[in-house]
Amino acid sequence: MEGFQKKRAQIVPKAFGRVLEIGIGSGLNFDFYDFDKVHEIIGVDPAVSSVAIAKSRALNYQSKISFIETSAESIRLESSSFDSVVIGYSLCTIPDPMQALAEVHRLLKPNGSIFFMEHGLAPEPNVQKWQKRIAPFWKKIGGGCNLDRNIEELILDSGFRFKKLKKKYIKGPKIASFLYYGEAPKV
Ligand SMILES: C[S@@+](CC[C@H](N)C(=O)[O-])C[C@H]1O[C@@H](n2cnc3c(N)ncnc32)[C@H](O)[C@@H]1O
Repeated sequence: MEGFQKKRAQIVPKAFGRVLEIGIGSGLNFDFYDFDKVHEIIGVDPAVSSVAIAKSRALNYQSKISFIETSAESIRLESSSFDSVVIGYSLCTIPDPMQALAEVHRLLKPNGSIFFMEHGLAPEPNVQKWQKRIAPFWKKIGGGCNLDRNIEELILDSGFRFKKLKKKYIKGPKIASFLYYGEAPKV
């Protein structure tokens, strides 16, 4: 878990302005925001029980943090109204990641960016083979988590370019520890 946390610490402080976080879960990223740069966070997640935890965690911060219990594929908010979108370990689970990224693209201001850290498809064919084999079982036991999504392609194909993209293994089983992380401005 340490490697996953380290990436939060590297990526989340880069978010600025009005921030949308999709798949916010229980709010594990709150500790990593730089609240001198962030003036509002809206968290989106359909899991009511996780959002309840995030709501109580949010009480520890003086910033404006609110939540919408809905799916990232359809967010009823005004277009071009966010400076940053944070996505952390959620593109693996969101059922239609392309649709969610299309919503993110719509909601970002023209100079806005996504700040992301995700696990996904490994580079080596032999690891990919195991990821694809195990994926259906993993999805069942892992709350809908898909092991084999190509995060780089998903982001590029959704109208973003990479300002920064890093890809590397962290500690752990290779099938679940290849990370993609960085910053991608809206094109
Ligand atoms: C692995 S958890 C990550 C949670 C959090 N981002 C974190 O870093 O701890 C994946 C999250 O995606 C959320 N999720 C699943 N389907 C979603 C959807 N359609 N839209 C938004 N979030 C979704 C789940 O409820 C869960 O909170």
